[in-house]
Amino acid sequence: MRKLIHDINNGCDEAPSSAGGGGINNSVRRVVRAVVVINPGNPTGNVFDEIDLGGLVEVCEEHSLVLLADEVYQENVYTPLKKFVSVREVALRRQSAVEVYSFHSMSKGYYGECGIRGGYMQLTNVDPEINSVICKLSSMTLCSNTMGQALLASIVTPPVEGDASYPLFQTEKESILGALQEKADMVYHELNKIPGVQVGRLACLTVHVSLL
Ligand SMILES: Cc1ncc(COP(=O)(O)O)c(C=O)c1O
Repeated sequence: MRKLIHDINNGCDEAPSSAGGGGINNSVRRVVRAVVVINPGNPTGNVFDEIDLGGLVEVCEEHSLVLLADEVYQENVYTPLKKFVSVREVALRRQSAVEVYSFHSMSKGYYGECGIRGGYMQLTNVDPEINSVICKLSSMTLCSNTMGQALLASIVTPPVEGDASYPLFQTEKESILGALQEKADMVYHELNKIPGVQVGRLACLTVHVSLL
């Protein structure tokens, strides 16, 4: 993350060279419009903290870069040492004007319904005109089927304490996440037994192995 921020700053800050040797920095200055952050990361398993994400929000704001945040693995952090923080929340806490497009999918998490096809994109600080163009564009494409839409509605409004289905929901959720955690631990231990291989206990490969 620090390297990315450094590169963006340097790329955008450096004066353009008059000769053709402006190189990557000038390309970055001309070409970079957005930064994609996948957090928790696939395939690295990295989980960014509030400080990392705050730095990213700042640099995007400074250089007017749009932030595209893929946060589909937000439920799949298998270590108590790391906690998922949404970059959208970070931007809102800082009252930043940075445009954030955050993505979530029913393919991951404890639901893991890749086949049903459903997800959402949440727009923050995006100009209403752009928002309406995006709406128009997405209305022109095929939508998720009825089941996908119904399932997504359930994911974003899960049962809450006091609801009749809450105890069963909690039991099933904990059992699925517990099984994924077990597999994550197994993969972590087995991979680290291979000479020359060292993996951290984050989301890592374990997300892949557990879910796909
Ligand atoms: C980081 C990340 N985002 C999104 C996806 C795909 O999500 P979907 O099944 O909703 O297309 C994947 C699939 O592996 C992924 O690793």
